[in-house]
Amino acid sequence: MKKINFLNLGKHPITNNFLSTANPKNEFFYNLKLSYHTETKLISLNNFVPPKKMFNNRYAHRASASMTMRKAYADLAKKIKKKFNPRSILEIGSNDGVFIKHFSDIQNIGVEPCKNLADLTTKMKIKTYDKFWTFLLSKKINKKHGKFDVIYSANTISHIHKLDETFKAIENSLNEEGIFILEDPSLLKSLQKLSYDQFYDEHAYVFSITALRNITKKSGLEIFNIEELNTHGGSNRVYFKKKTNKKFKISNNVKRHLSTEKKYGIHKFRTYQIFAKNVNKSKESLIKIFQSIKKKKKKIIGYGATYKSSTVLNFCKINKNYINYFVDTTPTKSGKFTPGSHIPIKAYKGISDDVDYAFLGAWNFKDEIYKKEKKFIKRGGKFITHVPYPRIL
Ligand code: TMP
Repeated sequence: MKKINFLNLGKHPITNNFLSTANPKNEFFYNLKLSYHTETKLISLNNFVPPKKMFNNRYAHRASASMTMRKAYADLAKKIKKKFNPRSILEIGSNDGVFIKHFSDIQNIGVEPCKNLADLTTKMKIKTYDKFWTFLLSKKINKKHGKFDVIYSANTISHIHKLDETFKAIENSLNEEGIFILEDPSLLKSLQKLSYDQFYDEHAYVFSITALRNITKKSGLEIFNIEELNTHGGSNRVYFKKKTNKKFKISNNVKRHLSTEKKYGIHKFRTYQIFAKNVNKSKESLIKIFQSIKKKKKKIIGYGATYKSSTVLNFCKINKNYINYFVDTTPTKSGKFTPGSHIPIKAYKGISDDVDYAFLGAWNFKDEIYKKEKKFIKRGGKFITHVPYPRIL
């Protein structure tokens, strides 16, 4: 059993650490390296960043910042009610309540270690534990509220370093016929789109179905259904049940996903060596695009100061020399500077008329952005993206 390193993305800051100055002192950096686990085929960061450095009272990300996500969570809540009719629901990583608020008619509990976010949902009268998800917390919650019909967790389990304990705690908090729904970026999609920006401090893991099955083999849980989503550039919604629960049949799509991943070579180290080579080529080509635009003295801004973009900017060493500033709709990001690359972030008020190019930090919201930026596009403004390969759109 061994972790083998396959890609070194260099030194990176805490993606959530939006700075109040362009010249910070003692900014924290760590080595962002990716590794492959020979037994479970799990892809992870080589060295993890201490959780309290990332998830704290200053956490900037608001899950409800984009219309696409607000609608996706509202639709999912409706679907869960219709399909499973739960009497109780627990969300691990409840963020600003964008999902869990739709369940105020039943027992709805949130777990959210970032206190500034937990305070938001507490104010919305949702019982929220401002704690990290652990076995101990699951015992405490069970004692107070009983076990749950549904446990839901989007973009959070991939952030938790101790996966065995995490799944054990989930199993412990589920009713016998309860289900656990996990939503996280898809490793297959990240490889196919060459979206290396899926890797950053918070994403300790990017899951394949293959690895998820392997790491939960020892637990009492099993996968019974999978849905593919467009969110975050391609995610999987994975449904787990207790192995003892015969109420839900295992869908054929589980086998189908495993076989698609096998065909792609998700289990082979060679696949990751090829990925690493292509990521380095992608870097060179993106830098060339920025350089050639700058040579023509054109103005480039960034659109969406996302966590993903932090990986791209820091890996490709793109800074203020290339991007004048970012625009972003999240109020807590505006007036700040991007971590590591120190580019100013302005509150979004449309794209100003002197901008020639906008680098799509939020490339996964391209459709939403294109709808909004018709005027920019009409007057000849262009977007730059790096997925699936660097180009001007
Ligand atoms: P996320 O990819 O982590 O959800 O973050 C998306 C970020 O992009 C968030 O800070 C909001 C920003 N954003 C914009 O500024 N404008 C937009 O039109 C969209 C869709 C996102």
